[in-house]
Amino acid sequence: MNLKILVTAGDGIGPEVTNEAVAVLRDVAELGGHTIQIEEKRIGGVAIVKDGTPLPKETLDAALASDAVLLGAVGGNEFNSLAPDKRPEAGLLALRAALGGFANLRPCFSFKELVANSPLRPEIVEGTDIMFVRELLGGAYFGKPREYDKEKGVGYNTMIYTRDEVARVARVAFNLARNRRKKLTSVDKANVLEVSQLWRAVVTEVGKEFPDVELEHQYIDAMAMHIMNRPRDFDVVVTENLFGDILTDESGVITGSLGMLPSATIGGKVDLYEPVHGSAPDIAGKGLANPLGAILTGAMILRLTAKLETEAKAIQASVRKVLEQGFRTPDLARSNPQAFTVLSTKDMGAKVRETVKQLVAVSS
Ligand code: IPM
Ligand code: MG
Repeated sequence: MNLKILVTAGDGIGPEVTNEAVAVLRDVAELGGHTIQIEEKRIGGVAIVKDGTPLPKETLDAALASDAVLLGAVGGNEFNSLAPDKRPEAGLLALRAALGGFANLRPCFSFKELVANSPLRPEIVEGTDIMFVRELLGGAYFGKPREYDKEKGVGYNTMIYTRDEVARVARVAFNLARNRRKKLTSVDKANVLEVSQLWRAVVTEVGKEFPDVELEHQYIDAMAMHIMNRPRDFDVVVTENLFGDILTDESGVITGSLGMLPSATIGGKVDLYEPVHGSAPDIAGKGLANPLGAILTGAMILRLTAKLETEAKAIQASVRKVLEQGFRTPDLARSNPQAFTVLSTKDMGAKVRETVKQLVAVSS
């Protein structure tokens, strides 16, 4: 098959990690007799500097004309004083809105080789396998009215959902749960927020279509604690945009590094793929970034957009193998750097590619 991917590498470590992800994708595709066409466009801070806007029209047009978009990261300290609608992040939010994907899948999986890398005790994290489904186009991120009035000293946003927006993301989550361990946890703040009362009512209603899936509701504050205390108890977790943003960063504690976490956004015109981590300006350009989150994001492109399950699995297996062999980027070696072979971003990418080739050679 022929897959057209637009790469918007963005800021900070974005270019370094997407370079490795793309190299892995190219190799895997070639081994399987598929072709991948890569185009690159600017987004975020680099686009503000070069084009005067965080999402140039050229980037948006190219995104809409591709099968999938792979984003690196956006943001940088030099933009911190800008208003939200002028910042690098605004480019990503506009891209998400234009592509229309509303279900952001963020798997959080505890590799057994990384158990010691988590600040949590091994018996807590071992075996964790959660699929977060974060609603991505609603809530406070997009709700209107919104304003920061400096003179008056007042700022506000609107956390708003409609029945349809909740129902469609709930269906995605129930369907995923149906094919996993058949448990769905819906997270809200229905003891305080009206918008969460709607959320809970609609998720419950949709749940009637899925009698085989066990549904539980949790409040966001309690859930933030449960995820740290007993992450293994959760299978699929569905929640609104802002709560999902927070919970998925928190779940980085389970692997001990946000650098491991991939994500995919589906349900719109074009699927959007981005590692969960940010632009990490403090380590950008130093070869210290962990490309595995981006590489695993590449595996999600193959699984969900290209429907190449074997190839997706080969990438996942290679990541595991590389970890098994003791290779680490610095963020994964904190517990005991002497025990591992610590690699640069590029060398980690190369290791994964080398391993993918071996795996494919053995299986064919
Ligand atoms: C994420 C990020 C983004 C978000 C930012 C960069 C706009 O934190 O993807 O989790 O808040 O959605
Ligand atoms: Mg986030």
